[in-house]
Amino acid sequence: MIEIQQLTKSLHGGGHRVDILTGIDLTIPDGQFVAITGPSGSGKTTLLSLIAGLDAPTGGSILVDGEDITKLNEDELALLRGRRFGFIFQNFHLIPTLTAIENVILAAELTGTSSPHKQSEDLLGMVGLGDRLHHYPSQLSGGEQQRLSLARAFVNEPDIVLADEPTGNLDSKNSGRILDLIAELHRVKQATIILVTHEPHVAERSQRILTMADGRIASDTPTSASGR
Ligand SMILES: Nc1ncnc2c1ncn2[C@@H]1O[C@H](COP(=O)(O)OP(=O)(O)OP(=O)(O)O)[C@@H](O)[C@H]1O
Ligand SMILES: [Mg+2]
Repeated sequence: MIEIQQLTKSLHGGGHRVDILTGIDLTIPDGQFVAITGPSGSGKTTLLSLIAGLDAPTGGSILVDGEDITKLNEDELALLRGRRFGFIFQNFHLIPTLTAIENVILAAELTGTSSPHKQSEDLLGMVGLGDRLHHYPSQLSGGEQQRLSLARAFVNEPDIVLADEPTGNLDSKNSGRILDLIAELHRVKQATIILVTHEPHVAERSQRILTMADGRIASDTPTSASGR
C-alpha cells in the first residue's frame, strides 16, 4: 500500500518560491490501477518522481508498506527501486551501446535472477521484439524502443509500476499494445499501476482516475473498471 500524506514540493528560483505540489493526500491500495491526468504543468511527473524516490519532497511523507521512503538514503532507495518498482518514462533511458537483449539482461542481472538470458528473451518475445534481440536502440523505431523499455521495466516483476505517458508518442496500434501489456501485468501479477496520461481512453482502462490541477488532486473518481 502507498500512503501519501501532506506531500509538498516547492522550488526556490530567482528570489521567489514556486509551489509545484501544494499538499497531496492519497492512499493507493495494493494492486490498484490508477491513472493520473490533468493539464500540463499540474505536477503529475513531479508526483511520480517523488513516489519513485527520484526526487525529494519539501514536506510530507510517502509510506510504501509502512516505510517512509522520504527518509531513506540513496543506497536504500536504489535497493527499493530495484526490488519493487518498474519505471516507464517518456525518454526511455535505454543504454545506446547495448543491444535490445543486453539492455534487458543488464536489468535482470541487477535483480539477481537465476536465468537472466532466458528471462530477457522471453520478455522481449512477449512485447513483440523476438526478432529484434540484437538491434541497438538507435536501430529501433520509437514504438519498439518503448516496448523495449517496457520489457526492461517488467524484468524484476515489479509490484509497483510507475509509467509517465507511456503511450504519449506512439501510434494507436503500438499504444494499444503497450496498454494491453500494462493491463496484463496488472491482471496477472496483481501489480499496482500508477500511470500518467493525457488521453481519456487510456485513463479509462484504469480503475481510478485522479485529476491534478495546480499541484493538488482536484478529483478522484472510480471508473467503470473499478469493480474488477
Ligand atoms: N526543476 C524545475 N525548476 C522549476 N520549475 C519546475 C522544475 N520542475 C518542474 N517545474 C515546474 O513544476 C510544474 C509541474 O511540473 P510537472 O513536470 O510535474 O508537470 P506535469 O503535470 O507532468 O506536466 P506535463 O503534462 O507537461 O508533463 C510546472 O509548472 C513546471 O514548470
Ligand atoms: Mg509530465
